[in-house]
Amino acid sequence: VADGADVPQRFGFGSQATPERIALWDRDVAPDGVGLPPGRGTVAEGQRVYMTWCVSCHGPTATEGPNDVLAGGGPWDGADPPRPRTVGNYWPYATTLFDYIVRAMPQNAPGSLSADDTYAVIAWLLALNGIIPQDAALDAASLPGVVMPARDRFVPDDRTGGPQVR
Ligand code: HEC
Repeated sequence: VADGADVPQRFGFGSQATPERIALWDRDVAPDGVGLPPGRGTVAEGQRVYMTWCVSCHGPTATEGPNDVLAGGGPWDGADPPRPRTVGNYWPYATTLFDYIVRAMPQNAPGSLSADDTYAVIAWLLALNGIIPQDAALDAASLPGVVMPARDRFVPDDRTGGPQVR
């Protein structure tokens, strides 16, 4: 109606965003590991997670696809970034693997992995890339200590906007 007299004060959609509900989304992990949750996973457990939830898109050795290649790819020797760019040769921080995987993977069910399963699948991927040993376990204390091969290939972007070019 034109004067709005029949429009209710509230439609009853949605509900209060409680701190508990916000916490379900507020779980970003910084390069230094701030934000990593409790949990732990081994390479062996990660193989089980990978073969259950990841293999269909990334392949049995994480090189076959059909989606992104996650292992190998050769060293980053020259000035130009290597191809293919993988977790092993391109990712500067192991911690951001947690941030990315727990948020975005498996792509057909993002957010479905537990913290333990996420640590485990990262352990498996890092062992596959020869970055940590086969008997390693990862948690919030050890993951930030993993030094990625591409660590020094990146610098913090502290540009403030505008036309600065590096
Ligand atoms: C349904 C297909 C699918 C499944 C299942 C899947 N992924 Fe992915 N994954 C993708 C696609 C597509 C991309 C590229 C996404 C993009 O570029 O935005 C990707 C990208 C990634 C990347 C980033 C690669 C890079 O170097 O940029 C990682 C790491 C990754 N996936 C890990 C996993 C893990 C771990 C699992 C299992 C828990 C998994 N994925 C399951 C489709 C999938």
